[in-house]
Amino acid sequence: MKYTWDDIERHIAVCTHCPLCRTRQRPVMGRGNRKADIMLIAEAPGAQEDRQGIPFVGSSGEVLDRLLRESGLSREEIYITNILKCHPPGNRDPREEEKEACFPYLKYETFLVNPGIIVCLGRVAAQRIISPDFKITRQHGTWTYRKNCALTATYHPSAILRDPSKYEDAKKDFSALFQVVHQKNSGSQYGKNDAGRPV
Ligand code: URA
Repeated sequence: MKYTWDDIERHIAVCTHCPLCRTRQRPVMGRGNRKADIMLIAEAPGAQEDRQGIPFVGSSGEVLDRLLRESGLSREEIYITNILKCHPPGNRDPREEEKEACFPYLKYETFLVNPGIIVCLGRVAAQRIISPDFKITRQHGTWTYRKNCALTATYHPSAILRDPSKYEDAKKDFSALFQVVHQKNSGSQYGKNDAGRPV
């Protein structure tokens, strides 16, 4: 694949591959550190993101920033993007054909960032990226290894806004993530315990 960041940005800005191009205000390209080891993938921009063209600027962005901060991570060390680059009206779930139309953009972003760790935020991302039968309530915080990449998932910040009791579980998942990154940067291999969680 020979696409550059400029190519991807130019294509997304004028994309008409699915009907969301008729209702979006602005497409939302991923943001953050393009050399990050950690890539966060959520489902689709919300209404606020649609207005600003930037991912996670609304209330779910505030939850995400708090989770990152309290687990010792920051936006500067992650790249964050969505499966869909355009806002689905009324925040409905992305449709299959929308996910497929948009997926090449995510592939190019992933290829360019080349992260060691991918964190799916929420069920929609986890089922598209990790496994179609992924159960976020039961499997959040578990790890899957693919090529040179470790994949995990946790609750979507907007699910936490709807049910704040999920916050502590998500915080544990982010803290484990911090440990994995820390271990990796100190040169040791990823390890897994019997529950499939990193040690
Ligand atoms: N929710 C998402 O899934 N993505 C965003 O960018 C914002 C809210």
